Amino acid sequence: MKIGVNYYPEQWDKVLWKNDITQMAEVGVKVVRLAEFAWSRLEPTEGVYDFGWLDEVIALLEEKGIEVILGTPTNCPPLWLYEKYPDAVMCDEYGNKVTIGIRGHRCYNSPSMIKKTKQIVSKMAEHYGKSKAVVSWQIDNELEAYHCTCEACTEKFRTWLKLKYGSLEQMNKTYGTAMWSGEYSDWSQVKPPMGKQQHWLNPGFLMDHYRFASESMEQFVRLQTACIREFDKTSSITTNMYLGNMTPDFYNTFQDLSYASYDNYPVTVIPDGKEEIYSHAFHLDLTRGIKRKNFCIMEELSGAPGCWMPICRTPKPNMVKGYALQAIARGADLILHFRWRSAMKGAEMFWHGILDHNNVQGRRYQEFRSLCETVHDQLGFLEGTVIKNKVALLFSHEQDNAFKFQQQAQGFHYYSQLKLFHNGVMRTGAGIDIINMTEDLSGYEVIIAPTIYIASQKVVDNLTLFVENGGKLILTNRTGVKDETNACVMENLPGPFAPLVGAYVEEYDALGDSKNIVQMRNGNCYTCSQWADILQEDTAQVLGVYGEDFYKGKAAITQNTYGKGTIYYIGTILERDFYYDFMMEVFRDTTVERMEDLPDGVERSIREDLNHRYMLLFNNTSHIQKINIVDQEPFELQPFDLHVIDLRS
Ligand code: GAL
Repeated sequence: MKIGVNYYPEQWDKVLWKNDITQMAEVGVKVVRLAEFAWSRLEPTEGVYDFGWLDEVIALLEEKGIEVILGTPTNCPPLWLYEKYPDAVMCDEYGNKVTIGIRGHRCYNSPSMIKKTKQIVSKMAEHYGKSKAVVSWQIDNELEAYHCTCEACTEKFRTWLKLKYGSLEQMNKTYGTAMWSGEYSDWSQVKPPMGKQQHWLNPGFLMDHYRFASESMEQFVRLQTACIREFDKTSSITTNMYLGNMTPDFYNTFQDLSYASYDNYPVTVIPDGKEEIYSHAFHLDLTRGIKRKNFCIMEELSGAPGCWMPICRTPKPNMVKGYALQAIARGADLILHFRWRSAMKGAEMFWHGILDHNNVQGRRYQEFRSLCETVHDQLGFLEGTVIKNKVALLFSHEQDNAFKFQQQAQGFHYYSQLKLFHNGVMRTGAGIDIINMTEDLSGYEVIIAPTIYIASQKVVDNLTLFVENGGKLILTNRTGVKDETNACVMENLPGPFAPLVGAYVEEYDALGDSKNIVQMRNGNCYTCSQWADILQEDTAQVLGVYGEDFYKGKAAITQNTYGKGTIYYIGTILERDFYYDFMMEVFRDTTVERMEDLPDGVERSIREDLNHRYMLLFNNTSHIQKINIVDQEPFELQPFDLHVIDLRS
C-alpha cells in the first residue's frame, strides 16, 4: 500500500523541482503521477518532441526511490494541433466547435486526433517503456462519453447503426419512428442527438447514441493501450474516472486495463441528513466492484476544492488523512493526493493542494505526513488483503442512462435508490459489493437489484439462476419495464421477472414528492414517496400494504419462493429506516456477518487473505463514537479515524 501525490513540474519554475522532490521523499511520498496535461511541453511543435525536462524530473524522483505513474497527455492537445487539425475539436449539441482554451475538447473519433494520439503515446511509450521508475500509465484524464456532433462522429454513428440494424427499415421499426413522422428514408438523415431538449427525441435512438458514445471512448482507451503495449509489456495501465453526467460504461472501459482508478473528492462538510452519510463509501464500493479487486485513488482530496464554484469549506482536522484511510478500508491500495502544491496560476489555483500557495508545511501537510507514516509504517500488514462480501448491489449503466432522458417521477433518481439500499446494509455492519448486473453471482447470498428498468435476457437468466440456487433477491419498482431497445413491453410488470416475483403490477402511481405510507405485516409503518407500484399477489405473500389513497390495503411489498430461493419485491421508495430494518430481516437466516450497536456513520469492513482477517472501523462523522464489541473493552473512535482489529488473534 502506497501514498503519493500528483505533481505538475511543467507548471513550476525548474528551481523548485529538486527541493519539492526532496520534501516529497522526506514526508513519505512513494508514488508521483506526472504529465497528464503536458502535451504542449512534450511536443512543442509538431513532430518535435522534448522529453528532456520530464527525464530530469523522473531522474530526481528515481534517485529518491519514488515511483512514477505517467499520464498520456491526450486530454489537452496543444493549440497548434487544434489550429492545424480543426477536426480534432469536438462539436456541441448545435454542431458548433466547442471553444478551445480549457481542457477535454478533443474528439475521440477525429481522424487527426487518432493519428496524433498514436504518435504522442507511442513516442512516450518508446521513450519511457523501459524506465524502471515508470511503473504504471494513466490514459488521458477523467474520460467522458460525451455526445460529439462532428462529421466524423456522425459518419461513424451511421456505420454503427448500419451494422446493428442492417437496414433502415429495421431501424425504423425498432425505434418506432412512425411516431411523429420520424421515419428515416435515407441514412444521411441520421444525425447525433442535437439541441438541448433531448427528452423530446426518440428514446430508442438516444439509448443507442449513449452506447455509441461510450464505445467511441472505450476505443480511444484501447488505441492508447495498444500504443503503450508495443513498447512496454510490463507496466500496469489504468485511467482515472469520476462520476458525472457523461461517465462512460466503466466496466467496459476498464476491461483491458490493469486496475481501476477513481478521483475521490469527498464533501468537506458532513451533511446533516443521514441519507448521504455513506455516500463516500458507496463510491468506493462502486470502484472496487469495477474489476472486483483492490483499486487506486488517483486523485484524493488534499484541501478545499474551489475554482469553477465558490471555494468549499476547508477539510476539518483529520479529514485529509481520514478519507484516505476510509478508501483503504474499502479496498484502495494506492492513493495519490491532488495536488502537491496549490497552483499559483491558471484556472485551478483555488483547488487546494497539500501545500498552500505560501509553500509552508501547514496543518494539512502535517496530516499528510501522519498518513504516510500510518500507511507505510503501521498498516503494512494489510498488503495483499482483499474484501470478500456475501451481499452485492447490482449497478447498470443502461439503467442510469435511460433515466437521464426519461425521468420516471419527481425526485426519483437511480443513484439515490441504490444508495438507500447501500445505506441500509452499511448500518447493519455487513459488507456490500457493488457490481455489474451481468457478473457471475456465485458466492453471494443476497443480491439487491434495484430498478432493472431495461431487462436483458442475460440479466433475467443470471438472476433466475441465482434464485434457483437458493439466493435471496431483492427487486424493486420500475423493473422489467423495457426491453433492450428501450421500448416498453406489452406485459404485466415486472415483465420477464413476474414468475420470480409471484405478483404483478396492476397499476402504478408516480407519487413524486407526494407521500403515502406502507404498513408492514410486523406492525412497522414507513412513509413512502416517488413511486407506488400497486401490486396484485399471485403466489407471493404480502409483507406490506399501502395505508392511504385509492389503493389503501393493496400490496406494496411482497415475498415469494422460487426454486430454493426467495424474491422480495419493493414497489415503492421508502424512508431511510425501512432499508435498515428490511435488510436486518433479509439477513436473518443467512451467514452475512453484522455488528450489533454499530453507531450510525461508522463504517465496518473486513480485509482478509488466506491467513488473516482484519476488521476495519471508520468513523465518518464529526463526533466521537463509542464502539462496543462483544467480549472487548468499549473504546472511542475519533472523527475520521480508522481502527483495525485483528480477528484471528
Ligand atoms: C479532477 C481532475 C484534475 C483536477 C481536479 C481538481 O477532476 O482530474 O485534473 O482538475 O479535478 O479540480
